Amino acid sequence: MEEQQEHLLKSETLIDDSAPSLLSRRPDSRHLHRRLHFFLLYVVNALLVVSLMVLLVRREKCVDPSLKTYMPANDAVEWEETVFIDMPGEVSPYLGTPSDEIDELWDQLYTGTGFLLFDPEETRRMVEPTVAIPTSGGDSGLYGMEVFHELHCLNVLRKSLYPERYPHYQLWNENCTRNPNMERHLAHCIDRLRQGVQCAGNTGTHFYFWSEEAGHWKMDMRSRHTCRNFERLQEWARARDYTGFDPFVRSHSTADM
Ligand SMILES: *[C@@H]1O[C@H](CO)[C@@H](O)[C@H](O)[C@H]1NC(C)=O
Repeated sequence: MEEQQEHLLKSETLIDDSAPSLLSRRPDSRHLHRRLHFFLLYVVNALLVVSLMVLLVRREKCVDPSLKTYMPANDAVEWEETVFIDMPGEVSPYLGTPSDEIDELWDQLYTGTGFLLFDPEETRRMVEPTVAIPTSGGDSGLYGMEVFHELHCLNVLRKSLYPERYPHYQLWNENCTRNPNMERHLAHCIDRLRQGVQCAGNTGTHFYFWSEEAGHWKMDMRSRHTCRNFERLQEWARARDYTGFDPFVRSHSTADM
């Protein structure tokens, strides 16, 4: 009974935080200990709440660090879940012996001149100077975008495999020597694609399945990825496609702006 009362007293002390009650009681180191305990609990709780809030706010602002390098198209970057196509599960429409349909699909990947005109504001934020094209709001800058160059490179490599259909992309001469211009172009493309692939560092994961037909495990490369929405980037670029560029006309550069 006495024990119970003491317990009640203790809890009362804990609830009643006012100074008089503290003074009215005999100083008890156990009580002070408890108060300190509670004080620490409040502090820890407050710190946790603040950290949680900071995390939530930062989460909202969380961006892909690869967008830190300013490029105007960064604003157009959106993400989507994608499963890569792999035979025999599914045959890519871009794959196979060339036809008009396949050529059309490839051409559609980078429709336009390949020259992009960035508005004066975007151009001012670019580090590298380029051709200045006078527009209403000031000088716009002429630029290109890597994803379309990479696709162009892939298309050139694809065409070089079928010289009977694309004689302009033929690597081998009739006398079994290589066409040095084509060799340079293809080698350049291979090395640009190498850099692009390494830069992306795709962590997509392949897996294996048992094939009764083959009698061994086979690799399934239908890996899952979070990709940048390519159509969105295409739209962005198509809106900036510039047809008026003549590389042989000397004019001023954005370095003089
Ligand atoms: C092979 O053919 C190419 C293109 O027709 C020509 O430029 C080159 O000189 C030829 N090389 C030899 C060794 O005949």
